[in-house]
Amino acid sequence: MSETSAATKAPASPFNRNNPYASRLRENVRLNKSGSAKDTRHIVIELGSGGPAYACGDSLGVLPRNPDRLVDEFLRKLDLTGDASLREILAATFILNRVGKKFVKAVADKASGPARDRLQALCADEKKLDEYVFDRDVVDVLQDAPGVKLDPAELPGLLNKIAPRLYSIASSPDHRPGEVHLTVAVVQYTTHGRPKQGLASGYLADLAAASSVPVYVQPTRHFHLPAPDRDVIMVGPGTGIAPFRAFLQHRAKHGHTGRNWLFFGDQHAATDFLYGDEFASAQKAGHLHRLSTAFSRDQAEKIYVQHRMEQDGAELWRWLEKGAYFYVCGDAKRMAKDVHQALLAITAKHGGKTPEQAEEYVSVTLAKTEKRYLKDVY
Ligand SMILES: Cc1cc2nc3c(=O)[nH]c(=O)nc-3n(C[C@H](O)[C@H](O)[C@H](O)COP(=O)(O)OP(=O)(O)OC[C@H]3O[C@@H](n4cnc5c(N)ncnc54)[C@H](O)[C@@H]3O)c2cc1C
Ligand SMILES: NC(=O)c1ccc[n+]([C@@H]2O[C@H](COP(=O)([O-])OP(=O)(O)OC[C@H]3O[C@@H](n4cnc5c(N)ncnc54)[C@H](OP(=O)(O)O)[C@@H]3O)[C@@H](O)[C@H]2O)c1
Repeated sequence: MSETSAATKAPASPFNRNNPYASRLRENVRLNKSGSAKDTRHIVIELGSGGPAYACGDSLGVLPRNPDRLVDEFLRKLDLTGDASLREILAATFILNRVGKKFVKAVADKASGPARDRLQALCADEKKLDEYVFDRDVVDVLQDAPGVKLDPAELPGLLNKIAPRLYSIASSPDHRPGEVHLTVAVVQYTTHGRPKQGLASGYLADLAAASSVPVYVQPTRHFHLPAPDRDVIMVGPGTGIAPFRAFLQHRAKHGHTGRNWLFFGDQHAATDFLYGDEFASAQKAGHLHRLSTAFSRDQAEKIYVQHRMEQDGAELWRWLEKGAYFYVCGDAKRMAKDVHQALLAITAKHGGKTPEQAEEYVSVTLAKTEKRYLKDVY
């Protein structure tokens, strides 16, 4: 059995958010089949030999740009279309798909007529202003104040700066060396009659092959694979699947003997089983020992990964007792909390513990003392 440093920690990199590496996009493929409500992309980025090294469990930082169409729409509204350097600064530096309160206040100050009254009243009411900025972009605001013009010099003070976005790495560095893979859910919605997209997920989804992409590796502090002979339970619905695809590739490549149990869920089996074919092959090859799926919208009642965990609670408890590591990745707001509750319920029921003992076992023994309950949630 071979073990590489990639399983634990990649060497320190000179690249970071202030000094990103200019990578190239190699593939941009929609993973959802036609008829799906979702758009999840498999993104393959070429790092080559000069790019940053990474390990399973790390994330990739991406420095996005605004789409040209949004920058142009914004500049047209302001009658500033001729200024190429302003166009570039806006595209690369400032958030345009969302808007902050200081921008609305500046526009309200310059508005006239009924628009001025309406915007001024809004700015005087913090709660209403919060609601107003929640689902608008800069163009929506200018549409509410026809004729308002802003000086290019004041724009930087009125707009928020773009920050990089992190994506869990979906490939083992040894799978296709020189490449890094991501699984990206494209944020898309329509408000105030205009379609919008997430800044970074939209940027990645719009990229054509061979485009340059500024990236850096954000090493994980805790989300590492265990020793090769340890069992792992991986819970990764939706894009939460990303690091577990990397884990499975890595464990197969290096002949790890520990068993692998994957819980995956998404809306529909027919259209949203991300990497379904790869997992079927891994099962056939004996690299994936159990695969539990929860397709939430294939039946009248919702079925989620935590329901599958509870159905297989006795077996899951046996794995934990034998020292299995328990990993969760994906949505932090609801999924990870519900999975935590399911883990407590399984521990109480199959471990014969009181709720207090179950809490102690999951939150202290597993999570802190033995460090085998690990989360990568966002
Ligand atoms: C460690 C880590 C790992 C991650 N890994 C992944 C990963 O593997 N895959 C992945 O896809 N993401 C991942 N993420 C999330 C990712 O970093 C971004 O947050 C995500 O892609 C959204 O960013 P964005 O720039 O596209 O959207 P933004 O431009 O930031 O917009 C998102 C915002 O849009 C607003 N919004 C969304 N829908 C609506 C609506 N209907 N109406 C009004 N407003 C709305 C919300 O306020 C939301 O906060 C990870 C995050 C972290 C911290
Ligand atoms: N605006 C958009 O276009 C859009 C679209 C998708 C996701 N998102 C956001 O993007 C992020 C990533 O999305 P994603 O594609 O990774 O998938 P996701 O939205 O996390 O969904 C993956 C699966 O998890 C299910 N799920 C929902 N609530 C759950 C819970 N409490 N416990 C367990 N499973 C639960 C979903 O079911 P149901 O969906 O049937 O409830 C779905 O089957 C999420 O934060 C999500 O909110 C935005």
